[in-house]
Amino acid sequence: MNQKPAVLWFTGLSGAGKSTIANHLKKLLNDDGRHAILLDGDNIRRGLNSDLGFAEADRVENIRRVAEVAKLMKEAGLIVIVACISPFRSGRQFARDLMEPGELIEIFVDTPLEECIQRDPKGLYKLALSGELHHFTGIDSPYEPPERPELHLRTVGADPAQSAQIVETFLRGKFY
Ligand code: ADX
Repeated sequence: MNQKPAVLWFTGLSGAGKSTIANHLKKLLNDDGRHAILLDGDNIRRGLNSDLGFAEADRVENIRRVAEVAKLMKEAGLIVIVACISPFRSGRQFARDLMEPGELIEIFVDTPLEECIQRDPKGLYKLALSGELHHFTGIDSPYEPPERPELHLRTVGADPAQSAQIVETFLRGKFY
């Protein structure tokens, strides 16, 4: 495929902008002739992981399956983009350990909780804050930020397309 496979693992709060940046990145890569696929938490949970909820054990299983699928796809030669909250360090470490050294690029989409609450693109923070939705990340379920991500994207005041460009620049030379 004329590229080195990689797993670009986006982590961050709900509403942080993971999917938006990931979609821009996929387009950048595809336009440049790279073979990339996006595994998005919201989509995966509609199909493969539709049997899972948001209790801790379910999230662990969600990330385990996504990591295993990502591994298969990178073994097929693809650049795999994952966009999942993936709130636990242990789950992200599990994914990293599944891949070859250097293959997983952890990308922290860093948007403060207050900003995510303001954006609330799906109206879920409103429900969580009023107690109608339980186990919501950042409200009554934890989020453990990465300690040493390969890339740290601060989104406040940043354009998602530019954030995607930062990731693409990081890959260039290393993976193709
Ligand atoms: S993860 O924590 O298991 O990695 P994942 O990324 O797959 O989460 O799914 C997160 C998406 O599910 C959110 O963007 C949101 O749209 C939806 N969602 C529904 N309920 C919750 C909840 N309790 N906590 C977080 N996200 C939720």
